[in-house]
Amino acid sequence: MTAVTPLVHSHTALGDFTIRDVIEGQTAGQLIVAADDWGWWTTLLGGDTIAPSTGIQQTVAVGLVRAGFLTRRGHRYHLTHTGHDVGKNRGFVRCAVRGWEPTFRQLSAAAHDEYIPAATEPGEVARACTDIARRRPEIFATIGAAIAADTPGRTIDLGCADAGRLQALAGLAPHEEFLGVDIEDEVIADATTELDRLGLADRITLLAGSVQPEPHSPAWLGAVDRDSVTTAMSFFLLHQLASDGNGIAAVLRGWMEWFPNVRRLVIGDGYLLEADHWTQQPWFSPTYEIYHTITGVQLWTQHEYERAYAELGWTVARRMEDHTMLVTTILERD
Ligand SMILES: C[S@@+](CC[C@H](N)C(=O)[O-])C[C@H]1O[C@@H](n2cnc3c(N)ncnc32)[C@H](O)[C@@H]1O
Repeated sequence: MTAVTPLVHSHTALGDFTIRDVIEGQTAGQLIVAADDWGWWTTLLGGDTIAPSTGIQQTVAVGLVRAGFLTRRGHRYHLTHTGHDVGKNRGFVRCAVRGWEPTFRQLSAAAHDEYIPAATEPGEVARACTDIARRRPEIFATIGAAIAADTPGRTIDLGCADAGRLQALAGLAPHEEFLGVDIEDEVIADATTELDRLGLADRITLLAGSVQPEPHSPAWLGAVDRDSVTTAMSFFLLHQLASDGNGIAAVLRGWMEWFPNVRRLVIGDGYLLEADHWTQQPWFSPTYEIYHTITGVQLWTQHEYERAYAELGWTVARRMEDHTMLVTTILERD
């Protein structure tokens, strides 16, 4: 199924798609997301098989077989090798197919614009990012161990989306308090309901608002005991805040002023790798590069991140790479 190949073979160049690939690729993306919403990938990756029970489910299963992701044995369906890869990386599919669709749709009316404002489906992006994060539990384990080994404090996740990462960390660092902030009110409202349901509301507090440092403090900061924050984390947001604002160091400096006692930073982000042509970048899919180019959201090199860390007195304690360009760094200072 060539249309989804870039997800698997990241060096494949665009340019030799057939009309069939284009149409079937789009359909395959929709089927992957629907199957995810039905819990199929979780079941399949857990080692079980699925047995469609309605005509609609049967049609989706057959579509996934045609795409090469499932095989059929009797009434039950199993993962193929490619299906395993797609299931593990389904967050990237959800992000592109559902999360970014409103941005790509705007291209039609934007022939003469320099950039298109990023217009996303926030709930879909939130879920996609949490699924992307869950692919690498050992990265969480390392962050959780670093927090748990320290004197208990409060960890804030800046741009926490559906609080998926906070939930995972709350399990790993049982004496830590957690706080999450995201600009999307509805995502925060839904995540708060979910935390209540899970009985985690006493350990994880969520607030809605912007974490972009501005001349005036955001309203949500007034509800926070700023001195209590000892770890500040942010995943897949700093590049955007740095693009909209005055670079990486300016954003980090703002956060350090908000939280004067922060002694650990955990930054996860997609790095720009220095290559002559973007098809040489080891992206999961070239679509990720196109999205950033049309929205004008800049990506930054490792050198740019590390220069900002050093400028502000932070030392890299751990650097964890996921497919080279997704990097999580734990930073400490005296
Ligand atoms: C790419 S997602 C990453 C989500 C999450 N940090 C993760 O990695 O799983 C970016 C998140 O930042 C949020 N966001 C964007 N601009 C923001 C801002 N100025 N302040 C707070 N959150 C923001 C979005 O709503 C979205 O949930």
